[in-house]
Amino acid sequence: MIQRIVLAAIATQALWAQATLNIDVNRPGANVSPTLYGLMSEEINYSYDGGLYAELVRNRTFRSDWTGILNWYLIEKGSASAKVSVDNTTGPSAALKTSAKLEVTKTGDFSSAGLLNEGYWGMASRPNTRYTGSFYAKTEAAGPLPLNIAIVANQSGQILAQTSVSLNGADWKNYKFEMQSGGGAPSADNHLELTIDRPATLWLQLVSLFPPTYHNRPKGNRIDIMEKLAAMHPAFLRFPGGNYLEGGRIDTRFDWKKMIGPLVDRPTHPTTWSYHSSDGMGLLEFLEWCEDLHMQPVLGIYAGYSLGGQVVKPGPDLDPYVQEGLEEIEYVTGGSDTKWGAVRARDGHPAPFTLRYVEIGNEDNFDRAKTYDGRYAQFYQAIKARYPDIQVIATMPVNGITPDVIDDHYYKREQGMFAEALHYDKTSRDGPKIFVGEWATREGSPTPNLGAALGDAAFLTGLERNSDIVIMAAYAPLFVNVNPGGMQWSSDLIGYDALTSYGSPSYYTQVMFASCLGDHTLNSSVSGAGQRFFYSVTASPVKLCLKLVNASSSDQPLSLAFNGLPAGDGTLRVETLKGNTTWSTNTIADPNRIVPMKSSKKISRDRLTHVMPPYSIQVIEVNLK
Ligand code: AHR
Repeated sequence: MIQRIVLAAIATQALWAQATLNIDVNRPGANVSPTLYGLMSEEINYSYDGGLYAELVRNRTFRSDWTGILNWYLIEKGSASAKVSVDNTTGPSAALKTSAKLEVTKTGDFSSAGLLNEGYWGMASRPNTRYTGSFYAKTEAAGPLPLNIAIVANQSGQILAQTSVSLNGADWKNYKFEMQSGGGAPSADNHLELTIDRPATLWLQLVSLFPPTYHNRPKGNRIDIMEKLAAMHPAFLRFPGGNYLEGGRIDTRFDWKKMIGPLVDRPTHPTTWSYHSSDGMGLLEFLEWCEDLHMQPVLGIYAGYSLGGQVVKPGPDLDPYVQEGLEEIEYVTGGSDTKWGAVRARDGHPAPFTLRYVEIGNEDNFDRAKTYDGRYAQFYQAIKARYPDIQVIATMPVNGITPDVIDDHYYKREQGMFAEALHYDKTSRDGPKIFVGEWATREGSPTPNLGAALGDAAFLTGLERNSDIVIMAAYAPLFVNVNPGGMQWSSDLIGYDALTSYGSPSYYTQVMFASCLGDHTLNSSVSGAGQRFFYSVTASPVKLCLKLVNASSSDQPLSLAFNGLPAGDGTLRVETLKGNTTWSTNTIADPNRIVPMKSSKKISRDRLTHVMPPYSIQVIEVNLK
């Protein structure tokens, strides 16, 4: 039996003959876009709430259904008695007109009462960490009423961080607090408690708690996830969708004016992905996310089509939405002397942002009324008239007007993506540029497996080779909360729970590909390679970047011949991602099974005899200076 397995292994290893890959260092080919690699993001799979947006409190605005207030529970310790309800008659703002009414009728020794928030499948606590919180409250209690706030371990009941805030008065006030955790191990199996020790009635709204955030932004983003994104070297961020931009109906679209300014002025809204958005991630937060990672924004503008089929007819009916789009662009780019630039300055960001690309809608090929030609033209003309330098992306081919850029989407299995690796080789160079605004090899759940990463890598070699026309590309979806119920769409690049995050093999493929990219392709040819072998080669004045993909189950022997390589020490830096089967993958519990490994090789007389392992992706970097 053992003998048979060994023989089978040897037979597979010997399947492919040695291939030759010739690279002509002195014969540049097409230009490569410096913005090829970027990100696409929307509220899906708890991407922001319960994900990137570091808020720890789930349902901070006390929405309820027939079961009660979602994610919040009553605490009655010892002999305490209390009840909680939604009060529809009072709230701190026009946007948040309701509140949680807590009526505590009995307390005593060790008998406090209050509310518990379960967090997003738990609440992360880390040792020696400062937490920053805030809430709106009012009370009928006479004199100051201390509200005790604590992060508590679910199993042991241990208090991990705590403080107390004194409430005063029958008018709505905004209270702020900080608390510091002690020692102990990091954990997610915790919750938040808000309790009082004496009978009283109080109303609460917008209860918020944040850990430290990336770049210490107030109410900012999770550090671990931002660091993973930074490692992808993204040149742009396409936001806010995706279907999330369109909304299920017009009134649940990404209505940007309701997602700027103080949180208390944001009403929150239902998303297309079956859960409600806190809208903490509003227009300015997206832009600051761009700023933090040095990405340029690619702004999706609502274009009069919602996912449920509602369409705004081109013409006068669409004018208000075109105006809304122009004002959105002004909010992003206008000086503080413009109406909407001044609003952005009021919101805390006086400096305008640079905006080169806007996208009109999302996947308008689904519009059964076929109105996109007219809707795109109306937006295009209005935007060009005011902002002639902005490139206006169409979500599908358009009749009557030539879009600057067209957004193509690809969601396929591994073999489908191998075929798509050749897609742009024959595309006319006379038409619009291409933005591959969403793409993924969809194998594996919640995050893609190695087979999917091989499909991705093959596809990316095609994009690099054709990056004179494919100017930008972004994997989608970017995020998934891996807890039960967290995912609406499988095969997502980065997975997380309340405490940790991990990269899929597809994530590492992106990191590797984006970490070495030239500004032009090089003339090259391959002969004798087996099936499922893909490559691309780009170079800049200082380095050559070779991407190799062996998506077969056998070794791929390869003779690499570099014509015109300048004299150097002959060292090639190699990064390899590989696994034993296409189904091998990373998980939240085992995040480092498939990760890139670094090595180096010496080249002798412009040649390298190289063997690519089965199921492997390699990036080889060669100094040209
Ligand atoms: O990425 C998930 C969804 O796929 C996007 O929201 C939509 O644009 C596409 O159909």
